[in-house]
Amino acid sequence: MKKLMTIIVAAAVFSACTSQQPKMLVLYYSQEGTTQKVAEEIVAQTGADIERIEAAEPYSGNFEETIQRCLKEREDGVMPEAMPITSDLSKYNVIFIGYPIWFGTYAPPVASLLKDIHLDGKAIVPFCTFGSGGLDSSVADLKQALPGADIREGFGIRAARMDNLKPELERFLILGGYKEGEVETYPDYSAQAPVTEEEAAIFDAACSDYQFPLGTPVSVGSRETSTSVDYRFTAEGNGPDGNVSHSTVYVTVPKADGSTPEFTMVVR
Ligand SMILES: Cc1cc2nc3c(=O)[nH]c(=O)nc-3n(C[C@H](O)[C@H](O)[C@H](O)COP(=O)(O)O)c2cc1C
Repeated sequence: MKKLMTIIVAAAVFSACTSQQPKMLVLYYSQEGTTQKVAEEIVAQTGADIERIEAAEPYSGNFEETIQRCLKEREDGVMPEAMPITSDLSKYNVIFIGYPIWFGTYAPPVASLLKDIHLDGKAIVPFCTFGSGGLDSSVADLKQALPGADIREGFGIRAARMDNLKPELERFLILGGYKEGEVETYPDYSAQAPVTEEEAAIFDAACSDYQFPLGTPVSVGSRETSTSVDYRFTAEGNGPDGNVSHSTVYVTVPKADGSTPEFTMVVR
């Protein structure tokens, strides 16, 4: 375990690079309200303006029906249209774009809107909610879709961990310079090493409830902060094609009394 680091740093405020306060807008799509909570919390913490993205033909809200409709749209090569937004984008230099992860990337109404608006030269801050993961893959897709924009580091949280939203988002906003404040610097994860029995038990306690198999942990790195011990597991499992696949599974064990290990994200 790496030595506990408790260095407190003041975040670089975004406006330090410019003489003006950045003008920020939160644009988000949310089908079931989870991503909306993140969008509203960004507004609460930064005072950004906000606008919701709407599908021209809304999805039903039923999980299975939405999956089936998406699969059909993909098969037919159909991109469901988004309603035009009303915000004047020229007023903003930082635009948070929020979405639920659907099939490993941003939900289709967001993809559709991105085709209709011009974001060249803007700082784009992605944020998302997901069942298990998809922040990295969706950010990579955003970079491809918006080559003229400055795609910043993004924020993601599992829908099952929304109780942790406020502090995790606040840390992200301060580190990104979108909000003033101080945060603890976290150490890097230690190098991956074979998983001990105790670490395998932590993996199981965090992941066994998840609806889809996350594989068997084969190596792990860890770090300790003032509030948690975090683990980065490499897990081995069978991919959809039956071949062996590897994923990175993140687990956190909060230090608060009575806390249990939490699965935070998988990167496939
Ligand atoms: C059609 C559909 C596809 C989804 N695909 C994924 C996925 O690939 N990966 C994932 O982790 N979660 C996936 N989810 C779960 C959502 O990302 C998650 O429930 C999200 O928090 C919903 O956000 P919302 O309440 O703002 O709509 C999917 C949900 C739906 C409805």
